[in-house]
Amino acid sequence: MQLKQVCVFLGVSIILAVFSSLAAAEFAVVDKEQYPYAPSLIQWEKTAAEFTEPETCGECHPQQYEEWRGSMHSLAFQDPIYQGELMLAIEAVGHDVARQCEGCHSAAAVVTGEVKGAGLTGLSPLAMAGVSCDVCHSIKGHSHWQTPTHQPENGSMILSPGKEVDGEAVLTKFGPLPVEEGCGDGFHECIESPLHQQTELCGSCHQITHYEKHTPLEMTYSEWKNSPYAAKGINCQDCHMVELETFKRSADTFQKPVRDEYHHYFNGANFLMYALTEMAAQKSGDEELAASSRQKYEMAVGRLQAAATLDISPVYRHGKLAEVVVRINNQRAGHYLPTSLTNIRQMWLEVTATDASGKTILSSGQVNSKGQLPADARRFNSDGMGDNMHFAIDPWSIVSFSKHDTIPPKGYREVHYGLTGTGDDPINLNVKLRFRQANQKVAEKLLSHVPDDMNLEAIYGIKEIPTVPIIDMIDKTVTISGEE
Ligand code: HEC
Ligand code: HEC
Ligand code: HEC
Ligand code: HEC
Ligand code: HEC
Repeated sequence: MQLKQVCVFLGVSIILAVFSSLAAAEFAVVDKEQYPYAPSLIQWEKTAAEFTEPETCGECHPQQYEEWRGSMHSLAFQDPIYQGELMLAIEAVGHDVARQCEGCHSAAAVVTGEVKGAGLTGLSPLAMAGVSCDVCHSIKGHSHWQTPTHQPENGSMILSPGKEVDGEAVLTKFGPLPVEEGCGDGFHECIESPLHQQTELCGSCHQITHYEKHTPLEMTYSEWKNSPYAAKGINCQDCHMVELETFKRSADTFQKPVRDEYHHYFNGANFLMYALTEMAAQKSGDEELAASSRQKYEMAVGRLQAAATLDISPVYRHGKLAEVVVRINNQRAGHYLPTSLTNIRQMWLEVTATDASGKTILSSGQVNSKGQLPADARRFNSDGMGDNMHFAIDPWSIVSFSKHDTIPPKGYREVHYGLTGTGDDPINLNVKLRFRQANQKVAEKLLSHVPDDMNLEAIYGIKEIPTVPIIDMIDKTVTISGEE
């Protein structure tokens, strides 16, 4: 090669290298060939076999159907908070990007091309059913180790509702059981899938990164992966697909539930959505759904109230009470407490101390009449930041976090409250650990952006957006001596 040719060759290589690194920065190394629905990383093995709506599965699996109906998975698409936020996402970044959301909240209807934005009008029962039976039981595998983060993220699962045999569609359903003769009653074939007993089944959707920059946004899977529960083989299913008592046993003893203890509740913390679903069911006269939503509400509250424990210890200096230390232990959540939308969910301490005469000597974390928390309330959450380093809450605008203050699994956080001039008499101290889905302003913003075809009054009977309810996870009162 002559010198001139080498220079031209080098020049072209440098230009190519610059171009390819620009392209990589722009598309964040998602391979569009592999991931045709990017930024959602779902994949579909397309055959003549179609997805089935839950009602049909329910004809032969009535128990699973009743448990799933009214669960957060059944609500994932119709959830008004989701629809409101989806509208905002489409306005901000366009529908191509917002498809990331739909890939998790209504996966089957994304690959079939049915869902094309926010709103419910004209959609099939399959699309409305969100995370339906046939989303999970068509999961054939995942591509976790090929994603940009080499972890589960953004729906990195492979959907395969069936296959073609001699040109005819044959449905195949993946489940936990060894295949027995007659499984599926001629409606579907059964395939034994170890994945269905593993956390990796849930991980694809319970791990969200920024659509372009891959900033970790909601990290329930990796929080679990790095916890003692993962080390002991206690999976999401072992706490979220069982009764409350069984969940406590899984958390306390690391003992796995037996086969017939599993149920399709997928019950977490969202008591607010169960309360709304109960209101909607009462309005439409569906008594069965109203009763099961009430049961799910109580289960979510019970789970929140079992999640943490609280220790209060006085600190004395020169013989006098100087401060109290409040320690919150994450006793039973298999991930950080809280997890997931940690920049929206609110968990905080409300502390009130009164002296012997009843006078308040310390008060922190009281919600005001407008439903707002004071700025100095001790919250256990995260604060997201946008490109401009300013506070941001929407998943398409958050590129980093200024604060991460959630409580690790089996770990704790401590808060110190200083006390001065308490005298020698004992004081009364009330400490509450409180939880709500969102602050009042965020809830109002999202609910006022629901698509036009979602009339909150017609569905839920709500005329104006009510105060976001608060659950006390712990409410403890102690008397503390003023002197050592
Ligand atoms: C990787 C899967 C995934 C993607 C992508 C995703 N979500 Fe979600 N979303 C979830 C999961 C899982 C939850 C439940 C977390 C929880 O309850 O703490 C959730 C919860 C929510 C909630 C809270 C609903 C409530 O009732 O409180 C909203 C709102 C929401 N998502 C909107 C969106 C929007 C808008 C997008 C796109 C910008 C999006 N999600 C993208 C999986 C996903
Ligand atoms: C979020 C994913 C998910 C959804 C949605 C879901 N399942 Fe399952 N299903 C599972 C998992 C995980 C198991 C295995 C649990 C275990 O280890 O027993 C399972 C087990 C089953 C089994 C085997 C027997 C049993 O109950 O353990 C049947 C049958 C079944 N599901 C039917 C359904 C039907 C019908 C629906 C819809 C009404 C549905 N599933 C919705 C994840 C899901
Ligand atoms: C015509 C009846 C019928 C219909 C409809 C039906 N199933 Fe089944 N399915 C069965 C029978 C029978 C079994 C055997 C085990 C049992 O009785 O639960 C079975 C087993 C299963 C299993 C366990 C398989 C394993 O290997 O662990 C899953 C999961 C499942 N079905 C999911 C579904 C889903 C999802 C749908 C809807 C798309 C569906 N089924 C529709 C009859 C049916
Ligand atoms: C196809 C995506 C997908 C898969 C797979 C999936 N989830 Fe979910 N899950 C969601 C979405 C989306 C929501 C939130 C719906 C909403 O808030 O509107 C959710 C909500 C939940 C909640 C309720 C959270 C709350 O705030 O109350 C629990 C618990 C849960 N999932 C557990 C599981 C478990 C356990 C598995 C695996 C067996 C699993 N999920 C698999 C998408 C998925
Ligand atoms: C040892 C039991 C345990 C395990 C294992 C576990 N969880 Fe949880 N989970 C809880 C408890 C307790 C809560 C309620 C407290 C909270 O919100 O964190 C909860 C809450 C949740 C919520 C609602 C969060 C919110 O505040 O809105 C989601 C979503 C969730 N879990 C998903 C998962 C997924 C996905 C896995 C597996 C990667 C998993 N969990 C593993 C116990 C567990």
